[in-house]
Amino acid sequence: MTLVLPVDPLNPAADAIRQAADVILSGGLVAFPTETVYGLGANALNPEAVARIFEAKGRPRTNPLIVHVADTGSVLNVVADWPETAVRLAARFWPGPLTVVVSRHTVVPDLVTAGGPTVAVRCPAHTVARELIRAAGVPIAAPSANRSTELSPTRAQHVLRGLNGRIAMVLDGGECPCGIESTVVDVTGTVVRLLRPGVITVTMLEEVVGRVVVGPGHENVARSPGQMTKHYSPGTPIRLCTDQDPMVVSDISRWSGKRWGLVHFLGSAGPSVNGVVLRGLSDDPRSAAADLFEALHSLDEAELDWIAIIMPPDTPEWAGVRDRLIRAAAET
Ligand code: TXA
Ligand code: MG
Repeated sequence: MTLVLPVDPLNPAADAIRQAADVILSGGLVAFPTETVYGLGANALNPEAVARIFEAKGRPRTNPLIVHVADTGSVLNVVADWPETAVRLAARFWPGPLTVVVSRHTVVPDLVTAGGPTVAVRCPAHTVARELIRAAGVPIAAPSANRSTELSPTRAQHVLRGLNGRIAMVLDGGECPCGIESTVVDVTGTVVRLLRPGVITVTMLEEVVGRVVVGPGHENVARSPGQMTKHYSPGTPIRLCTDQDPMVVSDISRWSGKRWGLVHFLGSAGPSVNGVVLRGLSDDPRSAAADLFEALHSLDEAELDWIAIIMPPDTPEWAGVRDRLIRAAAET
């Protein structure tokens, strides 16, 4: 059984945080809210504890984990080098939804970095996450709290859909405000690389560090399998429509007589279609991201034959949402 402890997201009770920190320190797993998605946390310095994350998620050991720290100063305990670009990015975006890949410190177990020379680090903004890390007194390795390749959780119930009985505890702090995982950047090379888009956009990054190259270099490809393959996928098949014209909906309705759902990003201007489970998300990228995984989880639970998604525009502000949708629809 997984213990669910409700906590106030802005002012969590000290005894709940203490209980969760004690689970972490005894080598167990705790799912906790961050501003992006729920994380599945373990003591990042304890290889047996970290191994339990891979077991609970069914995650391949080739996919490295993000190490979460309570403040910018503590990052120096887990990195070998904290270059000027990282200093500037952390000053601007931490605490917050940005993960920075740098050279690893030798204290970080191989399992966390998938044996590679780098470590991904992030200082989350969510009060529950920061208080948990502080109370534990150790950095916390945490992937998203879902089974490998499945949808990321933005509610405690989503965590339980995949991991009930497989982890010791969930701190239920309600909804995650950003709704999609952190932006991941690699600053180990001569040029800053965006490995995963999120609510911190390329435009925002470039204001701080100059030119940013989108996509992994050859040296990152093997270490970021999450960038290449099926990920964030509901059980229900997904079809992406690249045409924004709501007229596409009448075409879709001819594709099949089965039960299907439709997600669009047209805000209140969305189409209305008889007999279809409609889910309209905001035409603002930040608000749409906040509701994205919740929409996909609830459509997935509606036992539809398939889900159609009218894609939002191909602009930097929508990159994070588009990335999750493209991988949700990928078959392998
Ligand atoms: O918002 C988030 O980042 C959430 C919350 C819990 O913090 N965490 C999260 O973790 O999304 P996960 O494991 O689901 O995604 C981490 C991504 C993966 O694509 C992984 O391949 C990449 O970061 N990554 C981790 N360490 C890396 C490294 N050393 N080099 C390159 N990519 C790395
Ligand atoms: Mg994940």
